[in-house]
Amino acid sequence: MTTTRTQVAIVGAGPSGLLLGQLLHKAGIDAVIVERVSGDYVLGRIRAGILEQVCIDLMDEAGVGARMHREGLVHGGIEMLWDGRRHRVDLNRYSGGKNVMVYGQTELTRDLMDARAAAGLTTVYEAHHTAVHDFDTARPYVTYVKNGVTHRIDCDFIAGCDGFHGVCRASAPRSAIREYEKVYPFGWLGLLSDTPPVCDELIYVNSERGFALCSQRSKTRSRYYLQVPLTHHVEDWSDDAFWQELRLRLDDEARERLVTGPSLEKSIAPLRSFVTEPLRFGRMFLAGDAGHIVPPTGAKGLNLAATDVKYLFDGLVQHYRERSDAGLDAYSAKALARIWRAERFSWWFTQLMHRFPHDEQITAKFQHAELDYLMHSEAGLRTIAENYVGLPLDFGQR
Ligand code: APR
Ligand code: PHB
Repeated sequence: MTTTRTQVAIVGAGPSGLLLGQLLHKAGIDAVIVERVSGDYVLGRIRAGILEQVCIDLMDEAGVGARMHREGLVHGGIEMLWDGRRHRVDLNRYSGGKNVMVYGQTELTRDLMDARAAAGLTTVYEAHHTAVHDFDTARPYVTYVKNGVTHRIDCDFIAGCDGFHGVCRASAPRSAIREYEKVYPFGWLGLLSDTPPVCDELIYVNSERGFALCSQRSKTRSRYYLQVPLTHHVEDWSDDAFWQELRLRLDDEARERLVTGPSLEKSIAPLRSFVTEPLRFGRMFLAGDAGHIVPPTGAKGLNLAATDVKYLFDGLVQHYRERSDAGLDAYSAKALARIWRAERFSWWFTQLMHRFPHDEQITAKFQHAELDYLMHSEAGLRTIAENYVGLPLDFGQR
């Protein structure tokens, strides 16, 4: 067994772990990241791609925002389609001047990985049997096996950035943890293609055939989603079947404009709302998908992960620089307040836009009436816009 020492041992090299690692590095705090799979595998996962301003600011704070600013597409609005008609939500106008940016999570992850490699920082990929120990004491440590050798990392703190299926949350004492969960009775079938997006802006579609979303990664790369029953398998969806079904859910103009092409990737993702409380267990902190999952309607997952990391980072800096644990002590409650607000929005937006099995016919009418109300009310437009662009970091504290 080899033993090394660091200040913060980070489990997981997804966006949460990598962003925390980069921020800590810039602040002169030493961290090691331990990741179960390879770097290529991490980059192979296709996830959402909408960044809130707070996430953009954090990438800048971490010193990795250059390519994002060059290649990201700034969006000042989204479109909503129901009953054959499309309505625009002017995000910029109704959020007091904020926008969102289209920049794929894969690209953001790549920027963080490259910066980490360039700085010569340690990420242990393909680490097996990772385990977290003694986080209820002042001397926590992490162990893992790599190439048959067991390694031990002594540290001051453990950051559990290891996603929904990670080891950190699973290692917290069951008596100290409470989990809240809602699983939705459908999934999203996603397709990525090198075709120009059907529209400059994203289109969220409430159709009688189910939800659809027209999204994008660039001016030449599109990402589309269809609500599908949980019983469906991706192998049963040919590209042609996908495009045909998408067309049926769109309005006439979009149907005409839609450019189809071979899929680069196609997958089905389940939808889940999940929150674990608290996010701190002694000297171990959970951040990102390790602590919570949102359904993708509204694209809050990555943004929430980024703000968890920001709160945790600030707490760690305060600990090392000011010898104060106030920020770390406040971390769980502060992060959870923001998480629950985004969970509520994602749940609300999901139930507004999808067809649920066993819905009565009147439910679609209620949805249409609600959409109609929201689009014609200043208060309604503000509600969507301020949540979509992301509530301010100090929301509720003002
Ligand atoms: N040991 C080491 N690493 C692990 C372990 C383990 N036992 N278990 C999981 N991991 C790794 C995973 O392989 C993954 O690379 O932790 C990483 C967690 O990354 P993500 O699942 O991407 O979670 P996070 O970094 O919090 O990012 C949140 O991802 O799922 C989306 O919508 C979500 O956009 C949000 C973002
Ligand atoms: C995406 O581009 O993948 C995306 C965009 C918006 C969402 C969800 C996913 O709400």
